[in-house]
Amino acid sequence: MKPHSLTLVLIVVIPLINGEDTKPKLPSFIRLCNRTDPNIHKCVEENIELLRPTLKAGVPALFIPTLDPLLIPPTCVNEEDQVKVTFTDIQIYDADKFSLDRFDIDLNHHKVNISITFPHLRIKSTYNVNGKFLVVTFDEQGPADGNYTNFRVHLGLKGTPYIKNEEEHLRWDKETIALEVEDSHVVLEKLFGNHTEISDKTNKVINENIDVIINDLQPVIQRVVADFVFGIVNKLFTNYSLKDLFSE
Ligand SMILES: *[C@@H]1O[C@H](CO)[C@@H](O)[C@H](O)[C@H]1NC(C)=O
Ligand SMILES: *[C@@H]1O[C@H](CO)[C@@H](O)[C@H](O)[C@H]1NC(C)=O
Ligand SMILES: *[C@@H]1O[C@H](CO)[C@@H](O)[C@H](O)[C@H]1NC(C)=O
Ligand SMILES: *[C@@H]1O[C@H](CO)[C@@H](O)[C@H](O)[C@H]1NC(C)=O
Ligand SMILES: *[C@@H]1O[C@H](CO)[C@@H](O)[C@H](O)[C@H]1NC(C)=O
Repeated sequence: MKPHSLTLVLIVVIPLINGEDTKPKLPSFIRLCNRTDPNIHKCVEENIELLRPTLKAGVPALFIPTLDPLLIPPTCVNEEDQVKVTFTDIQIYDADKFSLDRFDIDLNHHKVNISITFPHLRIKSTYNVNGKFLVVTFDEQGPADGNYTNFRVHLGLKGTPYIKNEEEHLRWDKETIALEVEDSHVVLEKLFGNHTEISDKTNKVINENIDVIINDLQPVIQRVVADFVFGIVNKLFTNYSLKDLFSE
């Protein structure tokens, strides 16, 4: 082997070896929080503010996707009933502008309580409503648009410790979840085709009953929110050990 080809081999191989040995470390713009810090809420909040400018576009190193707009997989609302409602192409705007109202962590018992408020969310999607009501069958679709004010999420998380590569990690499961929306306005365009009068009336009825509808939709919204949150949190805690994420 000629010297220069050996050099070439080393140049190619050494980064691979290092790459396997090096555990993923938190990006340098994160400040580690002390797990026994009684003001850990403040430390987490400071990190959110450090991240804030990058949240819109997402932070791949922390598994955070683009938050404005945030794309959500198709969601079916109710299949058992005679009416089936499906939302596709769901885009959520302003999801990067949230505030952390509460962050209580008990790392001894691996429990976390979080409350987050989104002051304003706009959710656009394509709706499809089909089914049968009395003797009428229908299959309607079109753009859906909605504005939501003070969308609050309260989450209780329970962690289960496990060891990976001789380091302690946590797997998180949902313990409690609750959602509140202070105010909202929703429009389903082209509902019942070009019969704008029926469409307008239906939208009026929807908005007059929006609290009841959102309450009925709780299980679906909760599932979407939980899938999203736990998708991120569990990837984060799989790739980073507790030691990587918190100082002692
Ligand atoms: C974390 O907090 C503990 C107790 O308050 C303290 O002894 C320790 O030095 C702190 N560690 C860091 C890295 O700040
Ligand atoms: C989370 O909230 C529940 C009920 O509100 C409470 O029992 C629990 O102690 C809280 N956990 C933490 C870590 O603050
Ligand atoms: C949501 O808010 C935007 C911006 O204010 C507005 O253009 C849009 O018509 C609103 N949509 C609904 C369904 O209220
Ligand atoms: C609804 O109206 C649009 C334009 O006003 C027209 O192109 C379309 O064919 C109409 N659809 C039906 C089902 O009448
Ligand atoms: C996270 O871990 C998985 C599985 O160990 C790995 O495939 C992936 O590349 C890691 N991602 C990052 C950003 O470290």
